[in-house]
Amino acid sequence: MKLPDDEWTKMKETLDLLPQRALVVEIGCFEGGTTQKIAEYIKPKKGRVIAVDPHQGSTGWVATHKSLDGFMKNAGILDNVIPVLGTSLKASTMGLKPDFVFIDGDHSYQACLLDCKLWKNTTPIIAFHDTLDKTVWKAIQEEILSSKHWDCELTNSLLICKQKKAIALHNIKIRIRRAYYLLRRKLWKIKTKQTQNPLLRKSPLKSTPAESSKSQAKQTSQETNTTNSSAHTSTKQKPALTSETNPLVNKPKLHAQAQHLDAVYTAQYKHKKGDAK
Ligand SMILES: C[S@@+](CC[C@H](N)C(=O)[O-])C[C@H]1O[C@@H](n2cnc3c(N)ncnc32)[C@H](O)[C@@H]1O
Repeated sequence: MKLPDDEWTKMKETLDLLPQRALVVEIGCFEGGTTQKIAEYIKPKKGRVIAVDPHQGSTGWVATHKSLDGFMKNAGILDNVIPVLGTSLKASTMGLKPDFVFIDGDHSYQACLLDCKLWKNTTPIIAFHDTLDKTVWKAIQEEILSSKHWDCELTNSLLICKQKKAIALHNIKIRIRRAYYLLRRKLWKIKTKQTQNPLLRKSPLKSTPAESSKSQAKQTSQETNTTNSSAHTSTKQKPALTSETNPLVNKPKLHAQAQHLDAVYTAQYKHKKGDAK
């Protein structure tokens, strides 16, 4: 079966809202016509479809033949389609957290009511097909339309229901992710500008191990050269000041009396040094 054009356009708009790597669950996939279209549409965003159907050919208004063969031909071969041979109830026990659930399974009132109850708390967006069916509409009215938490839109027989809170949260998440991405890109641009412009470079670029060992060798040879030349010119370097060579260096903390003595000592020391010059 194929969704009419207006329904498929609405479906695509809804799929566009989904995040990267979205998980879609389709309840009642029959021969996989819609499964295939959804799977191919969300593939560029690395999305996957879990296609649920008992393929028994005896439930709902599709009561004619087993649909598994057709499904395997159309959608079963796609690598982002995961078939689940079972009912909606079975799939709901698998602990899935879908971003979108497309319900097109058993169209009886009881079954549709159960589908609403099973999936309305696990996903931010649900779509129902064949809602012109009175039993389906009645069940949706009771479970979804009567609640103020859902925003619903009908296109032909396709009803798209978005959970208001979840959608608001989803939009905030997308905005934050976009802002984070832009910030990272800006920082990256600044960084590459700095590394490319030698004037803005703080430290020299990291060199390869071979280069660094070369430059190290060069540096040491330069150092030995300078020590040799300094030895030749016999200009002796002054030793660093330590507490041993100069008693005024590294003075310990002193109490009042010792401070006085120290002041006297310092004055004498400086005077003596002055005499020596
Ligand atoms: C209307 S057809 C689905 C058409 C399909 N979505 C498409 O667009 O081509 C309904 C399908 O729901 C399946 N089905 C019936 N009861 C179900 C249940 N409890 N859980 C899941 N699928 C069910 C049937 O086997 C049937 O293949």
